[in-house]
Amino acid sequence: MRATVIGLGYVGLVTAACLAEWGHDVIGVDGDEHRLDELEAGRMPIHEPGLEDLVSAGVSAGRLRFSAPAAQAVAAAQVVFVAVGTHDGNGGWQTATIRSALSAIVPEMADDSTLVVRSTLPPDFIRQLPWLVSAMRQEAGRRPIPVMTNPEFTREGSAVHDFLQPDRVVIGVGEDPHGRGASMLRKIYRRTNVPVLVMGATDAALTKLGANLFLATKISFANELAQLCDAYGADITHVVAGMSHDTRIGGGFLRPGIGFGGSCLPHQVTMTIRESAALGLTTPLFEAVETINHRQREVFVDRLTIAAGGLEGARIALLGLTFKPDTDDLREAPALDIARTLIDRGATVVAYDPMPAARTKAAAEVPGLIVVDRAMKALVGADAIGLVTEWPEFARLPWAAVAKAVRRPAIVDGRNALQPAMLVAAGFTYVGFGRDGRAAVAEPGAVPTTTPAQPDAAGSPVPTRSRRRTSIEAALSAHGIDRPLTPIGVETNVSGA
Ligand code: UGA
Repeated sequence: MRATVIGLGYVGLVTAACLAEWGHDVIGVDGDEHRLDELEAGRMPIHEPGLEDLVSAGVSAGRLRFSAPAAQAVAAAQVVFVAVGTHDGNGGWQTATIRSALSAIVPEMADDSTLVVRSTLPPDFIRQLPWLVSAMRQEAGRRPIPVMTNPEFTREGSAVHDFLQPDRVVIGVGEDPHGRGASMLRKIYRRTNVPVLVMGATDAALTKLGANLFLATKISFANELAQLCDAYGADITHVVAGMSHDTRIGGGFLRPGIGFGGSCLPHQVTMTIRESAALGLTTPLFEAVETINHRQREVFVDRLTIAAGGLEGARIALLGLTFKPDTDDLREAPALDIARTLIDRGATVVAYDPMPAARTKAAAEVPGLIVVDRAMKALVGADAIGLVTEWPEFARLPWAAVAKAVRRPAIVDGRNALQPAMLVAAGFTYVGFGRDGRAAVAEPGAVPTTTPAQPDAAGSPVPTRSRRRTSIEAALSAHGIDRPLTPIGVETNVSGA
Protein backbone atom coordinates (compact mmCIF):
# COMPACT_ATOMS: atom_id res chain seq x y z
CA MET A 1 0.00 0.00 0.00
CA ARG A 2 1.24 3.55 -0.67
CA ALA A 3 1.06 5.45 2.61
CA THR A 4 2.03 9.00 3.55
CA VAL A 5 2.53 10.06 7.16
CA ILE A 6 2.25 13.77 7.97
CA GLY A 7 4.29 14.79 11.04
CA LEU A 8 7.40 12.89 12.09
CA GLY A 9 7.32 13.27 15.87
CA TYR A 10 6.98 10.51 18.45
CA VAL A 11 3.78 9.17 16.91
CA GLY A 12 4.32 9.84 13.18
CA LEU A 13 7.88 8.60 12.88
CA VAL A 14 7.05 5.34 14.64
CA THR A 15 3.96 4.94 12.44
CA ALA A 16 5.98 5.56 9.26
CA ALA A 17 8.81 3.20 10.25
CA CYS A 18 6.43 0.42 11.32
CA LEU A 19 4.29 0.69 8.17
CA ALA A 20 7.49 0.40 6.10
CA GLU A 21 8.46 -2.61 8.22
CA TRP A 22 5.14 -4.21 7.24
CA GLY A 23 6.12 -3.81 3.59
CA HIS A 24 4.21 -0.66 2.67
CA ASP A 25 5.66 2.07 0.53
CA VAL A 26 5.86 5.04 2.90
CA ILE A 27 6.64 8.74 2.59
CA GLY A 28 7.20 10.60 5.86
CA VAL A 29 6.48 14.33 5.71
CA ASP A 30 7.63 16.99 8.14
CA GLY A 31 7.95 20.76 7.88
CA ASP A 32 11.16 20.75 9.90
CA GLU A 33 13.97 20.61 7.32
CA HIS A 34 16.61 19.94 9.96
CA ARG A 35 14.68 16.90 11.15
CA LEU A 36 14.44 15.62 7.59
CA ASP A 37 18.19 16.11 7.06
CA GLU A 38 18.91 14.20 10.25
CA LEU A 39 16.64 11.36 9.19
CA GLU A 40 18.20 11.24 5.72
CA ALA A 41 21.57 10.93 7.44
CA GLY A 42 20.23 8.05 9.56
CA ARG A 43 20.16 10.06 12.81
CA MET A 44 17.01 9.78 14.93
CA PRO A 45 15.49 13.01 16.26
CA ILE A 46 14.20 11.10 19.31
CA HIS A 47 15.41 8.20 21.39
CA GLU A 48 13.04 5.28 20.92
CA PRO A 49 14.31 1.70 21.23
CA GLY A 50 14.26 -0.19 17.92
CA LEU A 51 13.32 2.87 15.86
CA GLU A 52 16.71 3.52 14.29
CA ASP A 53 16.95 -0.07 13.02
CA LEU A 54 13.47 0.08 11.49
CA VAL A 55 14.13 3.43 9.83
CA SER A 56 17.43 2.35 8.35
CA ALA A 57 15.94 -0.98 7.17
CA GLY A 58 13.02 0.88 5.57
CA VAL A 59 15.27 3.45 3.91
CA SER A 60 17.74 0.91 2.54
CA ALA A 61 14.90 -1.27 1.22
CA GLY A 62 13.53 1.83 -0.57
CA ARG A 63 10.22 1.53 1.30
CA LEU A 64 10.68 4.63 3.47
CA ARG A 65 11.40 8.11 2.15
CA PHE A 66 11.22 11.56 3.67
CA SER A 67 9.90 14.72 2.14
CA ALA A 68 8.99 18.30 3.03
CA PRO A 69 6.25 19.34 0.56
CA ALA A 70 3.09 17.65 1.81
CA ALA A 71 0.95 18.29 -1.27
CA GLN A 72 3.17 16.21 -3.58
CA ALA A 73 3.68 13.47 -1.03
CA VAL A 74 -0.06 12.82 -0.63
CA ALA A 75 -1.10 12.97 -4.29
CA ALA A 76 -0.26 9.34 -5.02
CA ALA A 77 -1.00 7.93 -1.56
CA GLN A 78 -3.77 5.42 -0.96
CA VAL A 79 -3.82 6.29 2.71
CA VAL A 80 -2.64 9.42 4.54
CA PHE A 81 -1.98 9.30 8.28
CA VAL A 82 -1.92 12.66 10.07
CA ALA A 83 0.16 12.70 13.24
CA VAL A 84 0.93 16.37 13.85
CA GLY A 85 1.34 18.00 17.27
CA THR A 86 -1.73 19.20 19.16
CA HIS A 87 -0.32 20.74 22.36
CA ASP A 88 -0.21 24.51 22.76
CA GLY A 89 2.88 24.45 24.99
CA ASN A 90 0.86 25.84 27.92
CA GLY A 91 -0.92 22.70 28.98
CA GLY A 92 -3.78 23.18 26.51
CA TRP A 93 -4.83 21.96 23.07
CA GLN A 94 -4.22 23.71 19.79
CA THR A 95 -5.77 22.72 16.48
CA ALA A 96 -4.04 25.32 14.29
CA THR A 97 -1.35 22.83 13.19
CA ILE A 98 -3.78 20.13 12.14
CA ARG A 99 -6.07 22.63 10.42
CA SER A 100 -3.18 23.96 8.39
CA ALA A 101 -1.91 20.43 7.60
CA LEU A 102 -5.41 19.40 6.46
CA SER A 103 -5.82 22.45 4.28
CA ALA A 104 -2.52 21.62 2.58
CA ILE A 105 -3.21 17.94 1.97
CA VAL A 106 -6.97 17.34 1.76
CA PRO A 107 -7.48 19.10 -1.60
CA GLU A 108 -4.52 17.17 -3.05
CA MET A 109 -5.51 13.67 -1.97
CA ALA A 110 -6.62 11.22 -4.64
CA ASP A 111 -10.34 10.47 -4.90
CA ASP A 112 -9.79 6.82 -4.00
CA SER A 113 -7.60 7.56 -0.97
CA THR A 114 -8.40 7.56 2.76
CA LEU A 115 -7.58 10.16 5.39
CA VAL A 116 -6.63 8.79 8.83
CA VAL A 117 -6.12 11.15 11.77
CA ARG A 118 -3.82 9.63 14.37
CA SER A 119 -3.08 12.76 16.44
CA THR A 120 -4.78 12.95 19.83
CA LEU A 121 -7.36 15.73 19.67
CA PRO A 122 -10.26 17.05 21.73
CA PRO A 123 -13.41 14.96 21.08
CA ASP A 124 -15.17 18.12 19.97
CA PHE A 125 -12.69 18.69 17.15
CA ILE A 126 -12.96 15.04 16.10
CA ARG A 127 -16.76 15.46 15.94
CA GLN A 128 -16.34 18.33 13.47
CA LEU A 129 -13.60 16.66 11.44
CA PRO A 130 -15.82 15.07 8.73
CA TRP A 131 -17.49 18.43 7.97
CA LEU A 132 -14.16 20.22 7.89
CA VAL A 133 -12.68 17.73 5.42
CA SER A 134 -15.81 17.55 3.33
CA ALA A 135 -15.88 21.37 3.02
CA MET A 136 -12.22 21.38 1.92
CA ARG A 137 -12.90 18.71 -0.71
CA GLN A 138 -15.94 20.55 -2.00
CA GLU A 139 -14.11 23.83 -2.24
CA ALA A 140 -11.34 22.14 -4.24
CA GLY A 141 -13.93 20.54 -6.52
CA ARG A 142 -12.87 17.05 -5.41
CA ARG A 143 -14.96 14.00 -4.53
CA PRO A 144 -15.45 13.09 -0.84
CA ILE A 145 -12.93 10.77 0.80
CA PRO A 146 -13.30 8.53 3.85
CA VAL A 147 -12.39 10.35 7.06
CA MET A 148 -11.09 7.95 9.69
CA THR A 149 -9.29 8.16 13.01
CA ASN A 150 -6.89 5.64 14.46
CA PRO A 151 -5.89 6.64 18.00
CA GLU A 152 -2.55 5.36 19.16
CA PHE A 153 -1.92 3.55 22.43
CA THR A 154 1.86 3.42 22.14
CA ARG A 155 4.06 4.24 25.12
CA GLU A 156 7.27 6.16 24.71
CA GLY A 157 10.14 3.80 25.33
CA SER A 158 8.25 0.85 23.84
CA ALA A 159 6.41 2.55 20.98
CA VAL A 160 7.80 0.29 18.24
CA HIS A 161 6.80 -2.81 20.15
CA ASP A 162 3.38 -1.35 20.98
CA PHE A 163 2.73 -0.48 17.33
CA LEU A 164 3.80 -3.85 15.94
CA GLN A 165 2.22 -5.87 18.74
CA PRO A 166 -0.70 -3.84 20.08
CA ASP A 167 -3.31 -5.09 22.55
CA ARG A 168 -6.05 -3.89 20.21
CA VAL A 169 -6.59 -1.56 17.28
CA VAL A 170 -9.27 1.12 17.41
CA ILE A 171 -10.66 2.51 14.17
CA GLY A 172 -12.87 5.59 14.33
CA VAL A 173 -15.29 6.28 11.51
CA GLY A 174 -15.84 9.96 10.77
CA GLU A 175 -17.21 9.57 7.25
CA ASP A 176 -17.02 6.26 5.42
CA PRO A 177 -20.25 5.62 3.47
CA HIS A 178 -18.96 2.62 1.50
CA GLY A 179 -16.72 1.17 4.22
CA ARG A 180 -13.60 1.70 2.11
CA GLY A 181 -11.67 3.45 4.90
CA ALA A 182 -12.46 0.78 7.51
CA SER A 183 -11.56 -2.05 5.19
CA MET A 184 -8.25 -0.39 4.25
CA LEU A 185 -7.32 0.04 7.93
CA ARG A 186 -8.38 -3.51 8.73
CA LYS A 187 -6.09 -4.71 5.93
CA ILE A 188 -3.15 -2.70 7.30
CA TYR A 189 -3.57 -4.07 10.82
CA ARG A 190 -4.52 -7.63 9.79
CA ARG A 191 -1.09 -8.98 10.63
CA THR A 192 -1.29 -7.85 14.26
CA ASN A 193 -3.87 -10.57 14.90
CA VAL A 194 -5.54 -8.60 17.70
CA PRO A 195 -9.12 -7.35 18.09
CA VAL A 196 -9.88 -4.50 15.70
CA LEU A 197 -12.69 -2.33 17.04
CA VAL A 198 -14.55 -0.15 14.56
CA MET A 199 -16.66 2.61 16.09
CA GLY A 200 -17.68 6.22 15.60
CA ALA A 201 -14.82 8.72 15.53
CA THR A 202 -16.04 10.43 18.72
CA ASP A 203 -16.28 7.04 20.45
CA ALA A 204 -12.70 6.34 19.35
CA ALA A 205 -11.52 9.71 20.72
CA LEU A 206 -13.20 8.94 24.06
CA THR A 207 -11.67 5.46 24.05
CA LYS A 208 -8.22 6.98 23.76
CA LEU A 209 -8.98 9.56 26.42
CA GLY A 210 -10.66 7.00 28.67
CA ALA A 211 -7.64 4.67 28.49
CA ASN A 212 -5.23 7.43 29.52
CA LEU A 213 -7.54 8.72 32.25
CA PHE A 214 -7.87 5.23 33.65
CA LEU A 215 -4.10 4.67 33.62
CA ALA A 216 -3.59 8.00 35.40
CA THR A 217 -6.28 7.05 37.93
CA LYS A 218 -4.55 3.73 38.62
CA ILE A 219 -1.27 5.51 39.32
CA SER A 220 -2.87 8.02 41.69
CA PHE A 221 -4.75 5.17 43.34
CA ALA A 222 -1.43 3.36 43.88
CA ASN A 223 0.04 6.53 45.35
CA GLU A 224 -2.86 6.87 47.78
CA LEU A 225 -2.57 3.22 48.72
CA ALA A 226 1.20 3.62 49.22
CA GLN A 227 0.44 6.31 51.76
CA LEU A 228 -1.62 3.78 53.73
CA CYS A 229 1.16 1.22 53.40
CA ASP A 230 3.63 3.77 54.82
CA ALA A 231 1.31 4.55 57.71
CA TYR A 232 0.68 0.91 58.60
CA GLY A 233 4.19 -0.32 57.85
CA ALA A 234 3.09 -2.53 54.94
CA ASP A 235 4.92 -3.11 51.68
CA ILE A 236 3.04 -1.87 48.59
CA THR A 237 4.98 -4.27 46.37
CA HIS A 238 3.42 -7.20 48.18
CA VAL A 239 0.01 -5.54 48.39
CA VAL A 240 -0.10 -4.83 44.64
CA ALA A 241 1.16 -8.32 43.83
CA GLY A 242 -1.62 -9.73 45.95
CA MET A 243 -4.24 -7.52 44.32
CA SER A 244 -3.05 -8.02 40.77
CA HIS A 245 -3.82 -11.72 40.65
CA ASP A 246 -7.46 -10.69 40.65
CA THR A 247 -8.15 -10.53 36.92
CA ARG A 248 -10.65 -7.71 37.50
CA ILE A 249 -7.82 -5.53 38.79
CA GLY A 250 -4.62 -6.44 36.92
CA GLY A 251 -1.14 -5.40 37.95
CA GLY A 252 -0.22 -2.67 35.46
CA PHE A 253 0.18 1.01 36.35
CA LEU A 254 0.08 0.46 40.07
CA ARG A 255 3.67 1.53 40.76
CA PRO A 256 3.69 4.38 43.27
CA GLY A 257 6.32 7.09 43.49
CA ILE A 258 6.74 10.63 42.25
CA GLY A 259 3.71 10.36 39.96
CA PHE A 260 3.07 10.41 36.24
CA GLY A 261 4.69 12.79 33.79
CA GLY A 262 5.13 12.94 30.03
CA SER A 263 3.21 14.69 27.31
CA CYS A 264 0.09 12.55 27.54
CA LEU A 265 -1.27 11.58 30.95
CA PRO A 266 -0.88 14.94 32.76
CA HIS A 267 -2.12 16.90 29.75
CA GLN A 268 -5.16 14.74 29.21
CA VAL A 269 -6.19 14.76 32.86
CA THR A 270 -5.87 18.56 33.01
CA MET A 271 -7.66 19.10 29.72
CA THR A 272 -10.50 16.77 30.65
CA ILE A 273 -11.06 18.71 33.87
CA ARG A 274 -10.97 22.04 32.01
CA GLU A 275 -13.16 20.98 29.11
CA SER A 276 -15.65 19.23 31.35
CA ALA A 277 -16.03 22.42 33.36
CA ALA A 278 -16.75 24.28 30.13
CA LEU A 279 -19.47 21.71 29.42
CA GLY A 280 -20.95 22.29 32.88
CA LEU A 281 -19.74 18.92 34.20
CA THR A 282 -17.94 18.24 37.46
CA THR A 283 -15.04 15.79 37.56
CA PRO A 284 -14.13 15.19 41.22
CA LEU A 285 -12.39 11.91 40.42
CA PHE A 286 -10.06 13.38 37.80
CA GLU A 287 -9.41 16.40 40.01
CA ALA A 288 -8.32 14.07 42.79
CA VAL A 289 -6.09 12.16 40.34
CA GLU A 290 -4.37 15.42 39.44
CA THR A 291 -4.08 16.64 43.03
CA ILE A 292 -2.55 13.36 44.18
CA ASN A 293 -0.16 13.41 41.25
CA HIS A 294 1.14 16.86 42.13
CA ARG A 295 1.26 16.01 45.82
CA GLN A 296 3.67 13.15 45.09
CA ARG A 297 6.37 15.58 43.94
CA GLU A 298 6.00 17.51 47.19
CA VAL A 299 6.13 14.30 49.20
CA PHE A 300 9.34 13.34 47.40
CA VAL A 301 10.90 16.73 48.16
CA ASP A 302 9.80 16.45 51.81
CA ARG A 303 11.39 13.02 52.09
CA LEU A 304 14.60 14.30 50.52
CA THR A 305 14.57 17.24 52.93
CA ILE A 306 14.38 14.90 55.88
CA ALA A 307 16.95 12.53 54.41
CA ALA A 308 19.42 15.39 53.84
CA GLY A 309 18.84 16.91 57.29
CA GLY A 310 17.40 20.07 55.74
CA LEU A 311 17.86 21.59 52.29
CA GLU A 312 19.67 24.85 53.04
CA GLY A 313 23.25 24.30 51.89
CA ALA A 314 22.65 20.59 51.21
CA ARG A 315 23.87 18.83 48.08
CA ILE A 316 21.18 16.67 46.52
CA ALA A 317 21.99 14.12 43.82
CA LEU A 318 19.14 13.43 41.40
CA LEU A 319 19.34 10.20 39.43
CA GLY A 320 17.34 10.52 36.23
CA LEU A 321 15.63 13.46 34.54
CA THR A 322 13.40 12.02 31.82
CA PHE A 323 9.73 11.30 32.64
CA LYS A 324 10.39 7.57 32.26
CA PRO A 325 13.27 5.35 31.14
CA ASP A 326 14.11 4.61 27.52
CA THR A 327 13.17 8.04 26.27
CA ASP A 328 14.94 11.38 26.12
CA ASP A 329 11.64 13.21 26.58
CA LEU A 330 11.50 15.83 29.32
CA ARG A 331 7.97 17.05 28.66
CA GLU A 332 6.14 17.32 32.01
CA ALA A 333 9.00 15.40 33.61
CA PRO A 334 8.51 15.52 37.41
CA ALA A 335 12.32 15.89 37.72
CA LEU A 336 12.18 19.48 36.48
CA ASP A 337 9.63 20.58 39.06
CA ILE A 338 11.45 18.69 41.78
CA ALA A 339 14.81 20.24 40.89
CA ARG A 340 13.31 23.74 40.82
CA THR A 341 11.74 23.29 44.25
CA LEU A 342 14.93 21.88 45.77
CA ILE A 343 16.98 24.76 44.36
CA ASP A 344 14.41 27.34 45.53
CA ARG A 345 14.70 25.90 49.02
CA GLY A 346 18.45 26.35 49.14
CA ALA A 347 19.88 23.04 47.92
CA THR A 348 22.62 22.50 45.37
CA VAL A 349 21.17 20.00 42.93
CA VAL A 350 23.43 17.81 40.80
CA ALA A 351 21.61 15.62 38.32
CA TYR A 352 22.59 12.82 36.01
CA ASP A 353 20.58 11.16 33.25
CA PRO A 354 21.90 8.66 30.70
CA MET A 355 20.41 10.70 27.82
CA PRO A 356 22.73 13.53 26.77
CA ALA A 357 19.86 15.39 25.06
CA ALA A 358 17.82 15.33 28.28
CA ARG A 359 20.80 16.63 30.28
CA THR A 360 21.34 19.57 27.96
CA LYS A 361 17.65 20.46 27.89
CA ALA A 362 17.21 20.17 31.66
CA ALA A 363 20.20 22.41 32.29
CA ALA A 364 18.68 25.00 29.97
CA GLU A 365 15.22 24.74 31.54
CA VAL A 366 16.12 24.77 35.24
CA PRO A 367 18.30 27.71 36.28
CA GLY A 368 20.93 26.65 38.78
CA LEU A 369 20.67 22.93 38.04
CA ILE A 370 24.06 21.25 37.65
CA VAL A 371 24.06 18.32 35.24
CA VAL A 372 26.89 15.84 34.98
CA ASP A 373 27.69 13.09 32.51
CA ARG A 374 28.26 10.26 34.97
CA ALA A 375 26.15 9.07 37.89
CA MET A 376 29.13 8.90 40.22
CA LYS A 377 29.91 12.58 39.61
CA ALA A 378 26.44 13.47 40.89
CA LEU A 379 26.71 11.18 43.88
CA VAL A 380 30.05 12.21 45.36
CA GLY A 381 29.53 14.33 48.46
CA ALA A 382 25.72 14.15 48.34
CA ASP A 383 23.70 14.75 51.48
CA ALA A 384 20.84 12.77 49.99
CA ILE A 385 20.18 10.89 46.77
CA GLY A 386 16.82 11.08 45.00
CA LEU A 387 16.03 8.49 42.35
CA VAL A 388 13.68 10.12 39.86
CA THR A 389 13.76 7.85 36.79
CA GLU A 390 14.17 4.10 37.01
CA TRP A 391 16.91 3.71 34.39
CA PRO A 392 18.24 0.14 34.76
CA GLU A 393 21.84 1.39 35.18
CA PHE A 394 20.94 2.88 38.58
CA ALA A 395 20.12 -0.54 40.02
CA ARG A 396 23.59 -1.68 38.89
CA LEU A 397 25.57 1.14 40.53
CA PRO A 398 28.29 -0.01 42.96
CA TRP A 399 26.18 1.01 45.94
CA ALA A 400 28.73 -0.02 48.60
CA ALA A 401 31.24 2.35 46.98
CA VAL A 402 28.57 5.03 46.62
CA ALA A 403 27.86 4.80 50.37
CA LYS A 404 31.49 5.76 51.01
CA ALA A 405 31.51 8.56 48.44
CA VAL A 406 28.43 10.42 49.73
CA ARG A 407 28.34 12.72 52.76
CA ARG A 408 25.21 11.05 54.18
CA PRO A 409 24.17 7.60 53.00
CA ALA A 410 20.49 8.38 52.52
CA ILE A 411 18.42 7.59 49.46
CA VAL A 412 14.83 8.39 48.55
CA ASP A 413 13.68 6.03 45.81
CA GLY A 414 10.99 7.89 43.88
CA ARG A 415 10.20 4.87 41.72
CA ASN A 416 10.59 1.95 44.15
CA ALA A 417 13.19 0.73 41.68
CA LEU A 418 16.02 -0.25 43.99
CA GLN A 419 16.51 -3.17 46.35
CA PRO A 420 16.10 -1.89 49.92
CA ALA A 421 17.88 -4.92 51.44
CA MET A 422 20.95 -4.41 49.30
CA LEU A 423 21.05 -0.68 50.04
CA VAL A 424 20.63 -1.14 53.76
CA ALA A 425 23.40 -3.75 53.68
CA ALA A 426 25.57 -1.17 51.87
CA GLY A 427 24.98 1.24 54.77
CA PHE A 428 22.17 3.36 53.34
CA THR A 429 19.02 4.61 54.93
CA TYR A 430 16.42 3.77 52.32
CA VAL A 431 13.04 5.42 51.88
CA GLY A 432 10.70 4.36 49.13
CA PHE A 433 6.97 4.90 48.57
CA GLY A 434 4.74 2.54 50.52
CA ARG A 435 7.66 0.27 51.16
CA ASP A 436 8.73 0.94 54.70
CA GLY A 437 7.10 2.60 57.65
CA ARG A 438 9.61 5.35 58.06
CA ALA A 439 8.65 7.19 54.91
CA ALA A 440 5.49 8.55 56.47
CA VAL A 441 7.03 9.45 59.76
CA ALA A 442 8.31 12.90 60.18
CA GLU A 443 6.44 15.93 58.98
CA PRO A 444 8.43 18.18 56.65
CA GLY A 445 11.01 20.14 58.59
CA ALA A 446 11.06 17.68 61.49
CA VAL A 447 14.23 16.14 62.85
CA PRO A 448 15.73 13.87 60.19
CA THR A 449 14.99 10.21 60.66
CA THR A 450 17.95 8.93 58.74
CA THR A 451 19.76 6.98 61.44
CA PRO A 452 21.15 3.91 59.69
CA ALA A 453 19.19 0.76 60.41
CA GLN A 454 20.55 -1.47 63.17
CA PRO A 455 20.58 -5.23 62.77
CA ASP A 456 18.24 -7.14 65.05
CA ALA A 457 19.09 -10.35 66.89
CA ALA A 458 18.59 -12.37 63.70
CA GLY A 459 20.90 -10.09 61.80
CA SER A 460 18.10 -8.46 59.78
CA PRO A 461 18.15 -4.71 59.62
CA VAL A 462 15.16 -3.10 61.27
CA PRO A 463 14.01 0.46 60.80
CA THR A 464 14.49 3.18 63.32
CA ARG A 465 11.15 4.18 64.78
CA SER A 466 10.15 7.77 64.81
CA ARG A 467 7.54 10.04 66.33
CA ARG A 468 4.69 9.83 63.84
CA ARG A 469 5.26 6.17 63.30
CA THR A 470 4.91 5.58 67.00
CA SER A 471 1.77 7.63 67.15
CA ILE A 472 0.28 5.64 64.28
CA GLU A 473 1.02 2.47 66.20
CA ALA A 474 -0.49 3.96 69.33
CA ALA A 475 -3.62 4.88 67.39
CA LEU A 476 -3.84 1.38 66.00
CA SER A 477 -3.42 -0.15 69.44
CA ALA A 478 -6.21 2.07 70.71
CA HIS A 479 -8.42 0.41 68.10
CA GLY A 480 -7.27 -3.01 69.21
CA ILE A 481 -5.02 -3.45 66.17
CA ASP A 482 -1.50 -4.48 66.97
CA ARG A 483 0.91 -4.93 64.10
CA PRO A 484 4.61 -5.59 64.17
CA LEU A 485 6.82 -3.23 62.22
CA THR A 486 7.64 -4.47 58.76
CA PRO A 487 11.41 -4.65 58.75
CA ILE A 488 12.99 -2.86 55.85
CA GLY A 489 15.60 -4.79 54.00
CA VAL A 490 13.72 -8.08 54.34
CA GLU A 491 12.31 -9.15 51.02
CA THR A 492 9.44 -11.60 50.96
CA ASN A 493 9.10 -13.82 47.97
CA VAL A 494 5.75 -12.99 46.43
CA SER A 495 6.19 -14.58 43.04
CA GLY A 496 4.45 -17.66 41.75
CA ALA A 497 1.08 -17.09 43.43
C1 UGA B 1 0.82 6.97 27.68
C2 UGA B 1 -0.02 5.70 27.56
O1 UGA B 1 0.52 4.67 28.39
C3 UGA B 1 -0.05 5.20 26.11
O2 UGA B 1 -0.92 4.08 26.00
C4 UGA B 1 -0.57 6.33 25.20
O3 UGA B 1 -0.54 5.96 23.85
C5 UGA B 1 0.32 7.55 25.38
O4 UGA B 1 0.33 7.95 26.77
C6 UGA B 1 -0.25 8.66 24.52
O5 UGA B 1 -1.34 9.15 24.83
O6 UGA B 1 0.32 8.95 23.47
P1 UGA B 1 3.44 7.46 27.85
O7 UGA B 1 3.04 8.82 28.30
O8 UGA B 1 4.45 7.33 26.78
O9 UGA B 1 2.16 6.63 27.35
O10 UGA B 1 4.05 6.68 29.10
P2 UGA B 1 3.45 5.76 30.25
O11 UGA B 1 4.13 4.46 30.20
O12 UGA B 1 1.97 5.76 30.23
O13 UGA B 1 3.95 6.53 31.57
C7 UGA B 1 3.41 7.81 31.92
C8 UGA B 1 3.94 8.22 33.28
O14 UGA B 1 3.36 7.42 34.31
C9 UGA B 1 5.46 8.08 33.46
O15 UGA B 1 5.95 9.23 34.11
C10 UGA B 1 5.62 6.86 34.34
O16 UGA B 1 6.79 6.88 35.11
C11 UGA B 1 4.38 6.97 35.21
N1 UGA B 1 3.95 5.68 35.80
C12 UGA B 1 3.60 4.65 35.00
C13 UGA B 1 3.87 5.57 37.18
O17 UGA B 1 4.17 6.52 37.92
N2 UGA B 1 3.44 4.39 37.72
C14 UGA B 1 3.09 3.32 36.95
O18 UGA B 1 2.70 2.28 37.51
C15 UGA B 1 3.19 3.45 35.56
